[in-house]
Amino acid sequence: MKTPAAEIEKLRDELRFHEYQYYVLDAPAISDAEYDALMRRLQALEQEHPELLTPDSPTQRVGGKPREGFVKVRHSSPMLSLDNALNEAELRDFDRRVRDLLGAESPRYVAELKMDGLSMAAHYQDGRFVSALTRGDGEIGEDVTENARTIRSLPLRVPRETASFEVRGETVMSRAAFERLNADRDEKGLSRFANPRNAAAGSLRVLEPQITAGRRLEYYTYFFLREGRPARDSHWESLAALRQMGFKVNPNSRVCATIDEVVSFCAEFEARRESLPYEIDGVVVKVDSIDQQRRLGSTARAPRWAIAYKYPARQATTTVKGIEVQVGRTGALTPVAMLAPVEVGGVTVSRATLHNEDEIERLGLEIGDEVVIERSGDVIPKVVRVASQGSWRAPFRMPAQCPVCGSRVVRVEGEAASRCINTSCPARLKESVLHFASRPVMNIDGLGDALVDQLVDKGMVKSIADLYLLKIEDLMDLERMGVKSAGNVVRNIARSKHNPMPRVLTALGIRFVGERTAVFLAEAFGGIDAIMNASAEELQKAEEVGPKVAEAVVQFFAETTNRDLVERLRAAGLQFAYASTRPKGGSLEGKVFVLTGTLPTLTRDEAKELIERNGGKVSGSVSRKTSYVVAGEDAGSKLDKARGLGVPVLSEADLRTLLG
Ligand code: IVH
Repeated sequence: MKTPAAEIEKLRDELRFHEYQYYVLDAPAISDAEYDALMRRLQALEQEHPELLTPDSPTQRVGGKPREGFVKVRHSSPMLSLDNALNEAELRDFDRRVRDLLGAESPRYVAELKMDGLSMAAHYQDGRFVSALTRGDGEIGEDVTENARTIRSLPLRVPRETASFEVRGETVMSRAAFERLNADRDEKGLSRFANPRNAAAGSLRVLEPQITAGRRLEYYTYFFLREGRPARDSHWESLAALRQMGFKVNPNSRVCATIDEVVSFCAEFEARRESLPYEIDGVVVKVDSIDQQRRLGSTARAPRWAIAYKYPARQATTTVKGIEVQVGRTGALTPVAMLAPVEVGGVTVSRATLHNEDEIERLGLEIGDEVVIERSGDVIPKVVRVASQGSWRAPFRMPAQCPVCGSRVVRVEGEAASRCINTSCPARLKESVLHFASRPVMNIDGLGDALVDQLVDKGMVKSIADLYLLKIEDLMDLERMGVKSAGNVVRNIARSKHNPMPRVLTALGIRFVGERTAVFLAEAFGGIDAIMNASAEELQKAEEVGPKVAEAVVQFFAETTNRDLVERLRAAGLQFAYASTRPKGGSLEGKVFVLTGTLPTLTRDEAKELIERNGGKVSGSVSRKTSYVVAGEDAGSKLDKARGLGVPVLSEADLRTLLG
């Protein structure tokens, strides 16, 4: 008989192997059912033996708890951006500059697809995944560790790698996953994501790892670093090493001996672009030799050894059959061009947004005209220009009355949008209720399009607050409902009362106030009353809140109907007070710690929590900004680096003393 520890280890190895086969190589070796069975067996064993649970177990991808905000962490070295080449001539200019700077030597290039996603850095210590950061402003990123952990192509463990290292790459959502996500959102009555890139960003930067886990993100790596510097002598070798270590590396990369070869690579993939499983917006060309890269150096913004060759946007010509007006949540009327269906970059397009009246005027567009439309990954494409005037034309006029409720439409001085003045316009109300109920906001399952339409049309919901008065009897006779689903919806509505205050603030639908901003406002002001009564100036004391957001908040609460809504929601029992979960003024306030090696009694997560609970921050890499390195047994290069930089090194006991 095997010991539980041995069986657990064996199951983990098997699961890791199958994750790799499935998510990295796209070559599953067993059926989903078999995989699930192995996973369940491991979960059961770990439940029986909690002492054997480790954070790198395949069961732990979605263990993370929701958080109130993202911690900012400095990158080991800046995550630079890239200069663009918009055509072949500019690409050849780049090659000329590189060769001039290198003198006698000729560079070798690596051409890679420029995947349209979000760049992310992942840190490993002792072969274990420890943290992940978004690019942020390039210097400082946001800690998205718990979300990144849910990405199956990101290995939680890299065998035979004992030293610390970092990988950088692109988090992307495949076209297929994107389509599925939007179809699912349609069904739930949630707004669609505009493109896979936005969907990937929206999935990685959510506060709940559960949400990221359901979104099927993929992580493709293209940099392998130690101490912020390339780990191999050439870029191509780094890619090979990453592949060897079990990371996902785009197979469509190529070494090019000359710029001519790069040019043909670009042309080849422009032709294949639509048949790739993910969106690309160009090709990244990198000088292969790290020594040459070093000599070429970087400007403040971008390296001189790389360039992004951007593909032109995909365009097509078609006729405008009519212009419809849609009413959004803020009451804004958006004109949308109804087009004769046309294919643009592999997608059939029959609508294009025209934004507002000014835009139509700028384009000189009338119904009946032939127009050039452009799709840059967006689901709703835009009209670029009029190609030729129609033989039959009709000008567009913004309706004076809302097409949904018939109320007056006004255009505020200095604003581009025309708005329906009726705050309880059914179109606005429907959009508001759907926003309120959506998963990242109040998360009321079952309150989708079809139900909201009926509730509003039948006058059962005239304000968001009415949701909390609904009873099973009210709902069960509606179309596509029954006692059971009515019961579920009523229960889910009741449950939503427990959502923390920042969610409620987001749910109100104030312009520009999303989840993040709501958290920052809550952190700065505590309860909703303080926010409601703050001036635009005071509001700007909150993190990331500028004049535009502050003004929107003030305007929102200036409306009596909105204040009434708040009062009714308060009476219904929603959360309007906020207790910060962020430690303030702990004894470690302002101190940045780096953990390395194995501590005698604390696990890394425990040490991290202890530090954070006392106001300190934990970073993944040592720099001059590091206040202390806490080192345990088998501490590696970080300890050396700390000594090199003169950063004080603490033992676990020292840390405890520091905490008193
Ligand atoms: S290299 C210093 N390689 O493009 C070099 N970037 O416009 C920086 N991207 O922020 C990036 N695919 O998000 C590189 N194969 C690739 C890429 C890639 C997509 C993105 C990345 C970066 C942006 C720069």
